[in-house]
Amino acid sequence: MGIGPYTVRSNVRRGPYATLTLEGRVEPSEPGQFYMVRGDWGADPLLGRPLSILSDDPSRGLLRFLLKVFGEGSRRLHALEPGQKVHGLGPLGRPFPRAAAEGGGKPVLVGGGVGVPPLVYLGQAFAREGRPFTFLQGARTKGDLLCLEELAALGVQPEVTTEDGSEGERGLVTAPLQRAIEMAAPVVYACGPEGMLKAVASLCRGRVPSYLSLEARMGCGYGVCLGCVVPVVREGVRSYERVCREGPVFEGEVVEWP
Ligand SMILES: Cc1cc2nc3c(=O)[nH]c(=O)nc-3n(C[C@H](O)[C@H](O)[C@H](O)COP(=O)(O)OP(=O)(O)OC[C@H]3O[C@@H](n4cnc5c(N)ncnc54)[C@H](O)[C@@H]3O)c2cc1C
Ligand code: FES
Repeated sequence: MGIGPYTVRSNVRRGPYATLTLEGRVEPSEPGQFYMVRGDWGADPLLGRPLSILSDDPSRGLLRFLLKVFGEGSRRLHALEPGQKVHGLGPLGRPFPRAAAEGGGKPVLVGGGVGVPPLVYLGQAFAREGRPFTFLQGARTKGDLLCLEELAALGVQPEVTTEDGSEGERGLVTAPLQRAIEMAAPVVYACGPEGMLKAVASLCRGRVPSYLSLEARMGCGYGVCLGCVVPVVREGVRSYERVCREGPVFEGEVVEWP
């Protein structure tokens, strides 16, 4: 983990979304890890905001994120201009366990909303390793589909669902996931809104191992403030684990949903 000053290399906006590229000293990372990112904007908002790594290139000192505006912190990140200074802390958290896909068959990657970027990074790693995979992406409408160019660059045609039917299959991403599980998917990796993750965990339970990247409101990002804990049950024992430290990737079987 490093803490670094970074310079905004580019910030390409598309509606509420922005692809933010930072330049600075970049430590090697793994898919599923994240950074706490904060602009040089004074005291408010005080804390950095967690963003999953979309891609990085330590040799060229580049880091890429894809963000969506939710509140003040993400609005300010969305507004950053090239040349502005940014503080980044990372890479943080436990990555997706790629070894879980080594048994053969095509792993299934399921992304929804701003949960798509870490799965694209995971897809890039699988592509480098020569491991074919299935990519499912769910969105409310066509304009919310993300990272299609990055996936095309990997030669991957995602199976798309939209809730309004404006692109791909109408409905939820759990429909193609159900089919993939029936076709003997060996492992499922997912990131997205809580409702989607809960449905993915329920579909996978007892049938296929799943690894889910959870979201939580974060304070420090590195395990000290306990602001990000979620309930888990391991071997019948209920406890709390930190999304920033033990996660953000958890086995679907252990997460206790609200
Ligand atoms: C490990 C991790 C990785 C993430 N990766 C990305 C990413 O790659 N791209 C991206 O756009 N976002 C990502 N997020 C979410 C992002 O960090 C939040 O959207 C951001 O912190 C919100 O800050 P804000 O100041 O804009 O909004 P706030 O003013 O803090 O909140 C605005 C509204 O959004 C709600 N909200 C804020 N954060 C969350 C949350 N985490 N879960 C549910 N509701 C929330 C609040 O309750 C409030 O209603 C990630 C979160 C985590 C934990
Ligand atoms: S954000 Fe502080 S412990 Fe996780």
